[in-house]
Amino acid sequence: MRHSSVKHALSGKRILITGTTGFLGKVILEKIMREVPDVAGIYLLIRGNKAYPNEAARFRGDVLGSSIFEHLREHDPFGLHAFCRDKIHCIAGEITQPRFGLTEREYEILAGSVDVFIHSAASVNFHEPLDQALLVNALCLAHIADFAVDAGDIPVIQISTCYVNGQNNGLIREAVYSPARVEMPVEPGGYVEVQALLAALESEMAVVLSCCRDDEKARSQALTELGLKEANRYGWGDTYTFTKWIGEQILLRKMQGKTLTIVRPSVVESCLKEPKPGWIESVKVTDAILLAYARDKVSYFPARKAGVVDIIPVDLVANAVLLSAAEALMEPCRQRIYQACSGSRNPLGVDRYIKTICGEVKQNWHKYPKLTQKQPKRTFVPVNKTVFVAAVTLAKWGLTLIDRLMLRGTDHRSPALKLVESTLRLTSIYATYTSPYYVFNNDRLMDLAERMGATDRALFPVDAALIDWDVYFREIHVRGLNHYGLEDRSVQPASELTADEAEIGAASGETASGV
Ligand SMILES: NC(=O)c1ccc[n+]([C@@H]2O[C@H](COP(=O)([O-])OP(=O)(O)OC[C@H]3O[C@@H](n4cnc5c(N)ncnc54)[C@H](OP(=O)(O)O)[C@@H]3O)[C@@H](O)[C@H]2O)c1
Repeated sequence: MRHSSVKHALSGKRILITGTTGFLGKVILEKIMREVPDVAGIYLLIRGNKAYPNEAARFRGDVLGSSIFEHLREHDPFGLHAFCRDKIHCIAGEITQPRFGLTEREYEILAGSVDVFIHSAASVNFHEPLDQALLVNALCLAHIADFAVDAGDIPVIQISTCYVNGQNNGLIREAVYSPARVEMPVEPGGYVEVQALLAALESEMAVVLSCCRDDEKARSQALTELGLKEANRYGWGDTYTFTKWIGEQILLRKMQGKTLTIVRPSVVESCLKEPKPGWIESVKVTDAILLAYARDKVSYFPARKAGVVDIIPVDLVANAVLLSAAEALMEPCRQRIYQACSGSRNPLGVDRYIKTICGEVKQNWHKYPKLTQKQPKRTFVPVNKTVFVAAVTLAKWGLTLIDRLMLRGTDHRSPALKLVESTLRLTSIYATYTSPYYVFNNDRLMDLAERMGATDRALFPVDAALIDWDVYFREIHVRGLNHYGLEDRSVQPASELTADEAEIGAASGETASGV
């Protein structure tokens, strides 16, 4: 094997990673352990949870215990053991707190110990209350920028999402876009000034808090609704992508003249190849369609057949992150944006996507017992979003009228009316993904892969043109989802669409993808 610039740049380096208890973080970590074992150390910011209150125990249980490490466990058990013993350092940390909740001394030691920061942690819940989503996806990025300075101006690799581009349509490049619905120009420094926006959101949240100070459930519900309303007002379909966009602006502004790479994946799905084709954790946003079809839960759902659904296997995303980290170490003091996506390199039409996954499940349903116990019977009909919303709105009016005639109060709405209301709400969120009017472009990431050379293109492939979509869905993804996704789903929901949501949605027909 010839010289690898990526391995050379990362060798001997100390890497701080957040989010390794999550889906993408695990794949990044596993790839470093397998492909760049001579890094000097990996520092993992992990928080305890109910099952594992201690960060080291959580690493052993939730991270190392994952099936993603099966390949290393089978092929190099002693190497894996030695790597964990000598090079993994678990730090109990909470990204939303100043100094990540560490003592001054612990923070100083950490800042003196690392050379590059890969920040993958986020709240990927579409329904997160606005205050929480802002903290995790936006405001904490100021702490991360401060940490990078305290650590000696180390590079930051921020994992964002292609969907920060919101409701901007057409060809979406690796650049900063203004909100689609509110005039907010991109400053000459390459970011949008969000201070006034944050102040406005703060005062909206203060009103909500003053109204339901003593009722936690009502407060959380009101903040969730406020998030969706504000996201919509500015040009996003959900609070998650809206707050991730704000986070990008905070980082870009605070890290002017510093080393920052933003890597934006589209919808991340199962591994194409490494370490195991089909490996996935939980159910992703587009898989809700598959689940709903397999379990005969829907007949109609809103989708734009001519649109391009942007799916990217998780191993290609992890490779994009490592290419970016290597480049940032080799050529510092620049800000860069890369999109890890398939839309421009290997467009997958919504129509083809639906026909392929539904065809596979219909034909080979007996191979996927966790997906379904019987052959799906219903036909699956994608409907234009406007027609779909009009029909559901009409149903809502009718059901509201019936409720009024029966003198039901708003707290005692009929189950049918509640279902229709939640369908409308979910349609507005998920239609971003199933009715796309945008195509994500990643010419810059392709240029980076070109510059890194043939060895790195083979070791760390990022090009979606490598995917044969029929083979991917029919031989890799559906199998992987059945084997890993549904298995892991009961253990730890973690995705843009949480497993619970997908399961509840699919089981009740309440997803945007169907009634
Ligand atoms: N999955 C996708 O399809 C997709 C698509 C585009 C972009 N992305 C981006 O990719 C990144 C990784 O996503 P993912 O799918 O791996 O998400 P995930 O599976 O939900 O993992 C999220 C990670 O963030 C950690 N985290 C959340 N809040 C935290 C906090 N306050 N302090 C410390 N850690 C915290 C979680 O830790 P706990 O386990 O302790 O909660 C978990 O490790 C995110 O930045 C996301 O925006 C994902």
